[in-house]
Amino acid sequence: MTSLEPIKYLETLSGKAAHLLSFNDGNRYAVKCKNNFHGTRELVNEFVIARLGQHLSLPVVPFKMVNMTEQQIQYIPKKFSSKYNSGTQFASLFIDNCRGLSKEPPHPTKTEINNNHVLAGIFVFDHWVHNSDRTKSNILLERLPEGKYDIHMIDHGKCFPGGYKWNKATLQKHDKFKKDSIVHIWTVGMLEDPSILSSYIKQILALPESLIEEVIREIPRDWSVPIQDREALVTYLKVQKKTFADSVYQFAKNYGRGLIS
Ligand SMILES: Nc1ncnc2c1ncn2[C@@H]1O[C@H](COP(=O)(O)OP(=O)(O)O)[C@@H](O)[C@H]1O
Ligand SMILES: [Mg+2]
Repeated sequence: MTSLEPIKYLETLSGKAAHLLSFNDGNRYAVKCKNNFHGTRELVNEFVIARLGQHLSLPVVPFKMVNMTEQQIQYIPKKFSSKYNSGTQFASLFIDNCRGLSKEPPHPTKTEINNNHVLAGIFVFDHWVHNSDRTKSNILLERLPEGKYDIHMIDHGKCFPGGYKWNKATLQKHDKFKKDSIVHIWTVGMLEDPSILSSYIKQILALPESLIEEVIREIPRDWSVPIQDREALVTYLKVQKKTFADSVYQFAKNYGRGLIS
């Protein structure tokens, strides 16, 4: 089996942390590199969230961990790559024909979203993992024939208290979300049956601790997450299970259609 390797640099994506490259499997991937200006924790968060999201059948964009040599790193323009380190990088499959959510309404209606049930899952999941960055650009609406859309979730670099710079100390703070996400407000505004929230909450509560530990163990060694930080992240996810449902329902009460009292 040939290993996945980058062939050509194509462009730097908005935000400047992700670079589009073509690879030897015929696909294009948005690649985030070690030691980018957000820090390597961005890659850790992308990986952990993608793995947990997959376990909950959420529409995380397929991803690969790619080993890139010093030489391959240099495919990316020097103004970025001079800071990057060779080794394991995070690559998400580039999905064509996508747009974010528009800033102003009208937003697509529920019937226009093919996989609309996952929006409630993303909303609940974001509360569990403290994703404070579900902006209009961090959800992809893939245009399908007949005017419909499929939802994909991207950009989980800024999860967990402390975001790009989390550590044991920041995780123990259990900060509240600072701003209300336009994606979450849109989701809750379309909610017709609150039982979908409780079903996702149950799914998260049912994720075994052993599975969470396994995901954290799989974080590549060359991303330099010390054992005490790994343990603190497992603890954070465990402790957060006790409280995230309250903030989910509080948010739904604030922005929903009065279905939750
Ligand atoms: N896998 C992908 N498929 C399609 N578009 C993507 C993908 N990954 C990133 N993008 C595009 O690139 C932008 C920047 O990527 P993102 O992961 O959000 O990085 P940043 O942390 O800089 O916001 C996204 O808002 C989106 O438009
Ligand atoms: Mg983004």
